[in-house]
Amino acid sequence: MAAPLHRDNLDACVFDAYGTLFDVRSAAERCSKGLGERKDALLALWRAKQLEYSWLRSLRGDYIDFWHVTGESLDYAMAATGTTDPLLRSRLMAAYLTLEAYADATDAVSRLRATGLKTAVLSNGSASMLTAAVSNSGLHRQLDWLISVDEVHAYKPHPSVYRLATERLQCPANRICFLSANTWDASAAAHFGFRVVWINRANTTFDLLPGKPEREITTLGALPDLLGV
Ligand code: LAC
Repeated sequence: MAAPLHRDNLDACVFDAYGTLFDVRSAAERCSKGLGERKDALLALWRAKQLEYSWLRSLRGDYIDFWHVTGESLDYAMAATGTTDPLLRSRLMAAYLTLEAYADATDAVSRLRATGLKTAVLSNGSASMLTAAVSNSGLHRQLDWLISVDEVHAYKPHPSVYRLATERLQCPANRICFLSANTWDASAAAHFGFRVVWINRANTTFDLLPGKPEREITTLGALPDLLGV
C-alpha cells in the first residue's frame, strides 16, 4: 500500500505550467479589444490546436519547440475564425510570454518550498517561454527548477518527459507530488508513478485513461493543507 500523500513522504512538488500555474486566457484578455466577438472561439481553438499539434508532432517524430507550435496553432485559430490582423498575432504571441499566474499559485508554492520540498515546473513550454513566464509572474523566486520537454524532444504525455523530472530532481517518482489542471497530463503522470493531485479548476470530468490522481482540489490554495503543511 502506498504511503499516505503527506509532505513527510515527498521530496518534491512538480507543477505543470499552462493552465496550472499560468492562466492561458490572460494573454488574450489583454488583446480582447482587437478580438471582439471571436475571442472565446479563437482562444478555445488556439489552446486545443496547440495541444493537438504537440501530440501529433510527437507521434510523427516531427518535434519542433513549443514556441513554434504555439505560433502555428494561433495561425490555425486565426484563419478558422477569419482573423487576419498581423499586429494582433504579434500581440497575442507576446502576451504568451507574460501570462499571469493564478492568484493561488505563489502562496501555495512558497509554503511548500518553505518546508524544504524541492519545487519545479515540468512543461511543454520551451526554456525561454518558461523563463519569461516565471520571471514576469514573480514565481521564479519560489521555483528551484524549470524543466522543459525541449531536452527530450517529445511532448507530454510521453513517459520520457516525466522521467526527465526524476533525473533532474534526483528523486524517485513515488517521492514526487505532481500537480496539473490538465486531465490527460495528470493521468499520464499517475500512470508513470508520480503522486498526483488534479487541480480541477474548470469543474470537468476526469479522462477515462489508465492513471488516476490520488486527490482532486479546485485551487492550488488547498494544496498545503492537503499535504499537511
Ligand atoms: C504544459 C501544458 C501541458 O505546461 O500545459 O506542459
